[in-house]
Amino acid sequence: MLIVFEGIDGTGKSTQVRLLAEALEARGLSVVTSREPTDGPFGKKLRESMIEGRLSPEEELQLFYDDRRDHVEHLILPALEAGKVVILDRYYFSTMAYQGARGFDPAKIREENEGFAPVPDHVFLLEIPVATALERIGVRDGSGNTFEQEGNLKACAGIFDTLEEDWLHRVDASQPPEDVHAAVFALLSPSLQTPSPQA
Ligand code: TYD
Repeated sequence: MLIVFEGIDGTGKSTQVRLLAEALEARGLSVVTSREPTDGPFGKKLRESMIEGRLSPEEELQLFYDDRRDHVEHLILPALEAGKVVILDRYYFSTMAYQGARGFDPAKIREENEGFAPVPDHVFLLEIPVATALERIGVRDGSGNTFEQEGNLKACAGIFDTLEEDWLHRVDASQPPEDVHAAVFALLSPSLQTPSPQA
């Protein structure tokens, strides 16, 4: 099973990845967690650009694709094939939102990604007002990195708002982390029913 947490910066995705991984492991499932940008060479270059200055839109989009291809090939697919539950902190919906906010067509980004990246079984879209997100990430006077500027996060949130799928669940992430986790777990539990033993 492939499970993804998405949302703008400051929604608490990494905490939810950890809480869900712990809960699933406690039920005896084998879980692999990961994040994008990854810690591989393409992901490292992307993280550097967040500190040192943003790359051109084309170069940045290409690096997110390269990073994801690598991630899919070397981590996501092997883990899924081994029967593990894979939980991701960001995936191609972030590319739709963030590179979409930079002018690329989100629908095209989605189509291209679904050409090589498996479609998740569940996406939890963590939602909070942009003002709350900015407070949480400690950005004052628009001094955050350019991914985290107010106007940019509003544009990203607007693209996340357009997503509509049965497997995409919107969760109010302004609640305490334990309550967010409880909401996530309740939404996931129908998929966790273990099949009855074969006669
Ligand atoms: P983030 O998960 O916030 O990393 P960290 O917790 O280390 O700050 O991701 C970093 C940024 O990368 C975030 O602002 C969103 C951006 N991003 C994209 O622009 N496109 C993508 O496809 C992905 C996966 C992330």
